[in-house]
Amino acid sequence: MTLWSGRFEEVPDDVLWGFTVDTSDRRLLVDDITGSIAHVHMLGTTGIVSETEAATIGDGLSAILDEAWADSFEFKDGDEDVHSAVERRLTELVGIVAAKLHTGRSRNDQICLDIRLYLRRSAHVRVDQIKSLIRSLVDQAENVGDAVSPSYTHLQQAQAIPFAHHLLAYAWMLKRDADRFTDMCERVDVSPLGASASGGSSLPLDPDQTAALMGFANTFDNSLDAVASRDFVSEYAFCCAQTMVTLSRLSEELILWATTEFDWVSYPDRHTTGSSAMPHKKNPDMAELVRGKSAIVLGAASGLLILQKGLPMTYNRDLQEDKNLVFQADDATGGSLVALAAMIEGAEFHPREPTRWVTALDLAEVLVERGVPFRIAHEVIGVLVSDLVADGRTMDQLTGADLVAAHRLFTIDDVQWSNPRTSMERRITPGGGSMASVNRQLEDLKTYLG
Ligand code: ARG
Repeated sequence: MTLWSGRFEEVPDDVLWGFTVDTSDRRLLVDDITGSIAHVHMLGTTGIVSETEAATIGDGLSAILDEAWADSFEFKDGDEDVHSAVERRLTELVGIVAAKLHTGRSRNDQICLDIRLYLRRSAHVRVDQIKSLIRSLVDQAENVGDAVSPSYTHLQQAQAIPFAHHLLAYAWMLKRDADRFTDMCERVDVSPLGASASGGSSLPLDPDQTAALMGFANTFDNSLDAVASRDFVSEYAFCCAQTMVTLSRLSEELILWATTEFDWVSYPDRHTTGSSAMPHKKNPDMAELVRGKSAIVLGAASGLLILQKGLPMTYNRDLQEDKNLVFQADDATGGSLVALAAMIEGAEFHPREPTRWVTALDLAEVLVERGVPFRIAHEVIGVLVSDLVADGRTMDQLTGADLVAAHRLFTIDDVQWSNPRTSMERRITPGGGSMASVNRQLEDLKTYLG
């Protein structure tokens, strides 16, 4: 039987049932029971139901919660949603008094509460997973020590940097991704219970009490807003989407670096897959799938925004679709975080030193230090580069004499700055590509990780 059979003379058609029932809310089971336990406690203390009735219902719900945690709760075909399933089971356990559980409540505030409880829990899991990935990047940054690599702009070699600096760039991006989940929790931390169907209730409900029982910092200010709004769901999905953009960029490099052409990284067999046709292949499939799954998450995040944009106040059944989308985004993000942490942990990085061309900017800055305006210094080194190219030479064949000929303020010894490692060691900017900066970043990130 449905929760709304009273005014209906026909039973629901199979077509209606098949189309409207969505089982994805079953994963909200624990949260749904948690909310009901708080709700019935409040019904008892406010005298809306008797203390004895509240205790009986509360005991029944606790037993159902045990079943949920033990994974032994059984859903039935006739359960329209997770709320109906719990109430059906409660009736089986405590009898007719179960009919008082839904007093002063609607599935509209209830579903909103369930999602809030769920996202509050999962946000913490995602933050922990992001931190594990940061930890694996920090470990690898320490492993590679002072290995020098090129930075890239336009996918062209740019400047000499410690390879660790490159790895740690991702650590900082991920830290912001984690912070975003934490910041968002402030807006999830609002209990909608008591908003009822949309306009509140004529019963003396105590929303503050239920909010406090569930550890919510706030209650709603407007009952319509409480049941109609899903901005916290799309915000959660955005947090997933932005994290996936970071992971997708990292994946792209993990794939690129594993090519024969780059050969900057090797992965252990256990983290790669083979080809059914080409016996020599060893593919970085985990990173490719993370890059692929980012498309799913970005799609889900925009799907959630589109889902809300044309809805009149307040609850509309369209909103049922928010769960599939946000779960999709959340699952893909969680799985990707775990996969990439394993890949980074198992990787052996052996970046190649850059060509000497990457020292060009540092050479220009040698002249700047001696009073030459940067624009002129840039031009001088630019002409030097062009002359070398015209002569069929590279920066490797640059001599002190070439430098002196290029500008009178160069000395023969300045040729040492055309070596990527020495050029890197000249970097002094805080946060720049130097070992001093890398060591400081490592220290700060370790403090953050605790
Ligand atoms: N399954 C619904 C959802 O996910 C629950 C709320 C149903 N409310 C209603 N008035 N039909 O949104």
